[in-house]
Amino acid sequence: MTSQRTLSIIKPDAVKRNITGKIIQKFEDGGLSIIAQKRMLLTKEKAEAFYSVHKARPFYNDLVSFMTSGPVVVQVLEGDNAIQRNRDIMGATNPEEADSGTIRAEYALNIEANSVHGSDSEDNAVIEISFFFDPSEINA
Ligand code: CMP
Repeated sequence: MTSQRTLSIIKPDAVKRNITGKIIQKFEDGGLSIIAQKRMLLTKEKAEAFYSVHKARPFYNDLVSFMTSGPVVVQVLEGDNAIQRNRDIMGATNPEEADSGTIRAEYALNIEANSVHGSDSEDNAVIEISFFFDPSEINA
């Protein structure tokens, strides 16, 4: 097994409902360690840049509005196969399709307010981690 790092965002819907601890428990129970973490309010420019791959999608403007509607908690998670492991712990993007026991099945409100984001590939994990964290902020 390979140790990997992945970028996680606990989204505004979850931070507002004060369930960051419940979500973190899922990561830790699933074998992931939090090696960096900070709470922030994303600017419109930062949210637009982070989701620029979705710029042409019909949900892009709403997604940017939602992601700037309140604080988020950004994290670097580390563990064996962390990228896929995190995706398994999160469940499907659409909570209606998420397996029971996953974060999105238990906590997500809808496909937009779906409580968490996680990197979807090794390349994107590297890009997304460096988008939010300086190497000096990551303590393995
Ligand atoms: P995330 O993993 O953060 O990546 C892009 C986000 O767009 C996704 O989670 C969803 O929260 C959001 N989104 C909103 N509407 C849709 C949609 N129709 N299809 C896919 N993603 C959507």
